[in-house]
Amino acid sequence: MTRENRPVRGFVPTPDRLVDHMVDLLFDGKAVAHEERLLDPGCGAGAFMKGVLRWSARTHSPLPHVTGIELDKQLARETASQLCSNPQVNVIQEDFLRTRPGEKYHYVIGNPPYVSILQLDEREKAEYKTLYRSATGRFDLYMLFFERALQILEPGGRLVFVTPEKFTYVDSASSLRALMRAYDVRKLELLPENVFGDLTTYPLVTVVENSKDRRPTSILNREGDEKTAALPRGGASWGPLLNGPKSDLKPRRMTNVLSRICDRVSCGIATGADEIFVFERNELPDDLHKFAWPTVAGRDLDPSKGRIETRSVMLIPYNAHGTLIPLEDLGPLRQYLMDPQVVARLLKRTCASRKPWYAFHENPAMSQILRPKILCKDIARQPAFWLDRSGETVPRHSVYYVVPKDESLLDPLCEYLNGKQARDWLIENCQRAANGFIRTQSNVLKRLPIPYELVTDTRNLIGPMLNPQRLHPMPTVLEMVA
Ligand SMILES: C[S@@+](CC[C@H](N)C(=O)[O-])C[C@H]1O[C@@H](n2cnc3c(N)ncnc32)[C@H](O)[C@@H]1O
Repeated sequence: MTRENRPVRGFVPTPDRLVDHMVDLLFDGKAVAHEERLLDPGCGAGAFMKGVLRWSARTHSPLPHVTGIELDKQLARETASQLCSNPQVNVIQEDFLRTRPGEKYHYVIGNPPYVSILQLDEREKAEYKTLYRSATGRFDLYMLFFERALQILEPGGRLVFVTPEKFTYVDSASSLRALMRAYDVRKLELLPENVFGDLTTYPLVTVVENSKDRRPTSILNREGDEKTAALPRGGASWGPLLNGPKSDLKPRRMTNVLSRICDRVSCGIATGADEIFVFERNELPDDLHKFAWPTVAGRDLDPSKGRIETRSVMLIPYNAHGTLIPLEDLGPLRQYLMDPQVVARLLKRTCASRKPWYAFHENPAMSQILRPKILCKDIARQPAFWLDRSGETVPRHSVYYVVPKDESLLDPLCEYLNGKQARDWLIENCQRAANGFIRTQSNVLKRLPIPYELVTDTRNLIGPMLNPQRLHPMPTVLEMVA
């Protein structure tokens, strides 16, 4: 089997232009000695080793000892047969993450594998957690490559990696960021999204020196603007330094964060089979209307319209407290759900093995969902928020909803969320999706600073404001069972 048709976990070759740029960053005009050692961990087909050979030929510089480490036997063999006729070059087939660190290197360069924790089995996860400080939360193998590579960097040595930018801001990489702050992070270069073709990784080149100096880091953003700045201490996110305009939210004028003034900041309902539960209103059989609630998906929220407009409805077999209604109490909805094709589709969902076959994929928090609230899309070009004043609209999984404790905050909060300050903060702090869009996540929304002026009466923030009487009466089903 050839490499072309045999999947190698985490194999993504680096284009030569990027390799040459990174090799220039690695040597940075320094005089390199024959005796020095350079490592390419996860060398794959040897893109960086070939780049170093090109650099040496082009600049008439001595070639250091170049070692590639590759896990995949066939790749290692092929790369060795191509490059190891040069006595300065060596390819070792081994697991970079599981071999005890021995030799140290003056230079480390590479494109480590992007393999998320979701692709690791339980044994691997447990083992990495014992070996690496950076193996926390939803870690990725490239983060562990960083940790190990920094451990084996000679004093004064230099490392250049291209990786996804995600480690600069996700919570699960805070240990890695803290660890990197013990080194001199010289440069962060955000690369165009399409450097790796169709694979959108939001690539970032990181240059680190093993030095006691803590000089400001040079940061190049995707628009090509360069600045120098001190990275935040400890494991704090580097996102605000890297992304977008500098938000002018002033911490001293903030009294709160969104989660503290809300009863809920969450993703909408995941049914696991929207094609069964969601209808166009005019296509819904008459006898099912009493089980139906207006519903919005992210695509229904149109930034050019301030109002929520939807023609879709969701059939909800839950009561106002979010309890699944027994099938025998569902009347015509029971009849619809019992259709053999509907049953077959619902049973295909992964959740069907652990809950009643007609339950939603996730239990819906109906008592919160049916309150006056603010909605936003999960993925958007710009953050934007819509008001659901009646509380009747049911957000689907592609919509986030925000339920303020104090209903009188609905308007000012929505206005604040749609304002420049909150928008800039969200652009700086949210993850990137494809094509420059941002991905809203509840853990980021919850941290959004709220200005002092917005929350004047803190008595309103003490407890949940839910008053079941105030709920829009959920027709029939809710009256029947609640
Ligand atoms: C993103 S690819 C980069 C390949 C090459 N360096 C390049 O830039 O073209 C990462 C490589 O790391 C290898 N790899 C994955 N896990 C590894 C491990 N634990 N030890 C050594 N190599 C590994 C993969 O087989 C793959 O070839």
